[in-house]
Amino acid sequence: MELKKAITERRSVKNYDYEMYVDEEKVFSLVDLATYAPNHGMREPWRLVYISKKQIPEFAEKVAESAFANDSEKQEKYINKVTKVGGMFVILSKRDPRQKENLENQMAVGAFVQNLMLLMHDEGMGSCWKTPEFIFRPTFRKIVGVNDDEEVNGFLYITEKDSSVKVMERKNKSLITEW
Ligand SMILES: Cc1cc2nc3c(=O)[nH]c(=O)nc-3n(C[C@H](O)[C@H](O)[C@H](O)COP(=O)(O)O)c2cc1C
Repeated sequence: MELKKAITERRSVKNYDYEMYVDEEKVFSLVDLATYAPNHGMREPWRLVYISKKQIPEFAEKVAESAFANDSEKQEKYINKVTKVGGMFVILSKRDPRQKENLENQMAVGAFVQNLMLLMHDEGMGSCWKTPEFIFRPTFRKIVGVNDDEEVNGFLYITEKDSSVKVMERKNKSLITEW
């Protein structure tokens, strides 16, 4: 697929159904390719935790209990939604006590995830980066197994493409200002 077309036509997929399955071998090979994202100092500051379709119900139940304690309706809604997804990654990045290096790490992860989403799009898969509030909670970190020196950058849901979503034109207001 042509790069320009891939960039404009990749869409965040937000509708899921139970029959969504992913080719895990393919997805993992795309993760390897995505690491060719620029990363300063070649620190490769990313790590992904994979939750397979089979594991999602157990994972979602634990996450829902910790994220929406005492609200069984919200728990159920969350579980119903995510169990439809084909598979998911929790995106982690290396936290660096140095300001500059930390900024570089965070931005490198953005480049890495965009690479991965474009590659998945190119292979006919869909994806959506998700950053719900609860990813910052210690209970969530514990469920996932996040190390103390890692930031949680959200989830990457792996899905099928949704042909009903249209290309979202960008506004690009004040994109470039002449100095
Ligand atoms: C860092 C990041 C976090 C995001 N978090 C969420 C989220 O929590 N929930 C959601 O529905 N979409 C989330 N998105 C997807 C964006 O909302 C989506 O990219 C935007 O709607 C533009 O649509 P497109 O990606 O299809 O072009 C996130 C995207 C990024 C880059």
